[in-house]
Amino acid sequence: MGNILVTGAFGQIGSELVPELRRRFGAETVIASDIRRPTADGNGTAGPFEHLDCTKLRQVQEVVRRHGITTIYHMAALLSAVAEEKPQAAWDLNMGGLYRVLEVAREYRCRLFFPSSIGAFGPTTPPDHTPQDTIQRPTTIYGVTKVAAELLCDYYAARLGVDARGLRLPGLISYSAPAGGGTTDYAVDIFYQAIRYRHYTCFLRPDSCLDMMYMPDAIRAMIELMAADPGRLKHRNAFNVTAMQLTPERLAAAIRRHIPGFVIDYEVDPERQAIADSWPNSIDDSAARSEWDWAPRYDLAAMTKDMLDNLAKRLRPAN
Ligand code: SER
Repeated sequence: MGNILVTGAFGQIGSELVPELRRRFGAETVIASDIRRPTADGNGTAGPFEHLDCTKLRQVQEVVRRHGITTIYHMAALLSAVAEEKPQAAWDLNMGGLYRVLEVAREYRCRLFFPSSIGAFGPTTPPDHTPQDTIQRPTTIYGVTKVAAELLCDYYAARLGVDARGLRLPGLISYSAPAGGGTTDYAVDIFYQAIRYRHYTCFLRPDSCLDMMYMPDAIRAMIELMAADPGRLKHRNAFNVTAMQLTPERLAAAIRRHIPGFVIDYEVDPERQAIADSWPNSIDDSAARSEWDWAPRYDLAAMTKDMLDNLAKRLRPAN
């Protein structure tokens, strides 16, 4: 087996994917890369690192060739809310980066993992039990890049022989690195504020329902999809996967079971609310379950307990 390259290694997903890949396959076989420089502690990812702008073809080629890369997890991207503020930059990174990485994957015969999102759906998508194959007319630039990326990955797989695989990830909840710039970020921020202040002001309405997943399940889903028997995969790219359907008020109630005085109030941000309203309430992940045996392990109660236990080791109540 050759080596693995992770782009966007210091992001919310990359910062947990790299350690898990290193634990499974050996530290020296996983090359972390990011356009950001490592901090003094190496961002907690002890092992090889490359400073890489994945929109630069030469740089991607050079890293892949020099490290004998055979699998790429391409995580570098802007999330939905920040992409709406900078649509041109979002196109350049989300599409430009993927296109270069796919070209290098074709040239060097690498396998590729690509993270699509519930953001690849839009207001005309059936919002409940959203099927695997359905209407995808997103109204955000983030969604436009995700749908185009799903199609481009399918094209490179079918026509150009790249073993590209992907997931439509829901909102991801984790404690290692902050999310940054997403519509689902409230479901991370709420835990920090609950421990520090026993109070959180949410930017989405109390009843805004979105699919979510705890990060350990998401990391395992990515690695399991890449290990799946290709003969069983009918979809390859952009499998719906989910673990729970959360609203801010449901999540607040779960936190209150551990922090009884926790208070949530609401100051709705119309921009992020509009994005959330354009995404499904619940997606149907039966294709992932039947084609590569996907099953989440964390439900709302288990995720909430684990998040609070881990954050309590780092954070102190403010008073
Ligand atoms: N979590 C992402 C976001 O909110 C969705 O893919 O942008």
